[in-house]
Amino acid sequence: EKQDNEETIAKYGELVLSLPKERGWMTQHLVQYQGFWLSPACAFKGAPLLHQHFHARPSDIFLATFQKSGTTWLRALMFATMNRALHDVSSDQYPLLTTGPHDCFPFLDAYIHQTDSISHLNSRPILSHDASPELFSTHMPYALLPKSVTASSSGCRFVYVCRNPKDVLVSKWIFMNKMRPKQLAPLSLQEAYDLFCQGVSHYGPFWDHVLGYWKASLEFRDKIFFLKYEDLKKDPFVHLKRFAEFLGQPFSLEEERKGVVQEIIKLCSFENLSHLEVNKTKVQWFSSQLVVKNSFFRKGQVGDWKNYFTDEMARRLDQITDDKFNASGLTF
Ligand code: A3P
Repeated sequence: EKQDNEETIAKYGELVLSLPKERGWMTQHLVQYQGFWLSPACAFKGAPLLHQHFHARPSDIFLATFQKSGTTWLRALMFATMNRALHDVSSDQYPLLTTGPHDCFPFLDAYIHQTDSISHLNSRPILSHDASPELFSTHMPYALLPKSVTASSSGCRFVYVCRNPKDVLVSKWIFMNKMRPKQLAPLSLQEAYDLFCQGVSHYGPFWDHVLGYWKASLEFRDKIFFLKYEDLKKDPFVHLKRFAEFLGQPFSLEEERKGVVQEIIKLCSFENLSHLEVNKTKVQWFSSQLVVKNSFFRKGQVGDWKNYFTDEMARRLDQITDDKFNASGLTF
């Protein structure tokens, strides 16, 4: 298997050299692979190795997101909702109080680092999965996932969370500047804005990522639960109940009466999670390039872009979004 992996990496490594390139948000440039902008490692290792080795089970459930769209929040909500029979949500020993949302279940894309020396620090060296259903998260565009995951016959279910692109861009710009090596000048908002508008963003273009899952959700309504960050913020009670039903774990009347839905919402709230010691101090090794400490919680608000964008920036980004989503039925 090791030799197979090395051959795959060598083959795709050569391919990556021939792919269109654009400057990245951190140190590395991004390459355009099958229409999407990926880090070179993701293009020559991640996507191919995922196809080669990952075999989904029909019971698997995937949380799919574009970066900075609410992954951390949904990870916590998904874990708490799916595991409430195992762990009492109101317990002061609850796992999420000492284990960050990013360690609750595996990040599929970290599989690309299986061959790195830091693999042992990532979720799991080999994605064999015993529990059922097993939860995974991914930023991979729908079109780049293995067929064992997306085929209509696979049975796998997805929760997809999207967020207003203006807030995604601001959140990503601030996050990436925190990740950038200190010897590099910070990326200006204008530079980040231009890259984002051109679609040059990890796993982007943003709009193609969203549309891939949106269209699939219309085609396979029982397989893809499509949710907006803003709607969840506005009415978490209603959306968490729908979410639990989709996951096959609806809240019983008894649970509702006991206030379990509200308990989960409170447990996973920005206010609660962002103040936990584990989320303030834990260093998260996604790869040798991406080591994150205390950066998944910032403001957690809707509309923070207003504090950064000029009217013209907002107008232009809205126009791109309208054009891209035109006729899809999707609006922000
Ligand atoms: P802001 O930078 O706008 O504050 P991701 O988890 O996909 O990386 O997204 C990060 C964004 O989600 C950040 O947005 C972060 O503050 C916000 N966030 C993290 N946890 C949250 C929670 N429990 N509730 C709401 N938003 C949350």
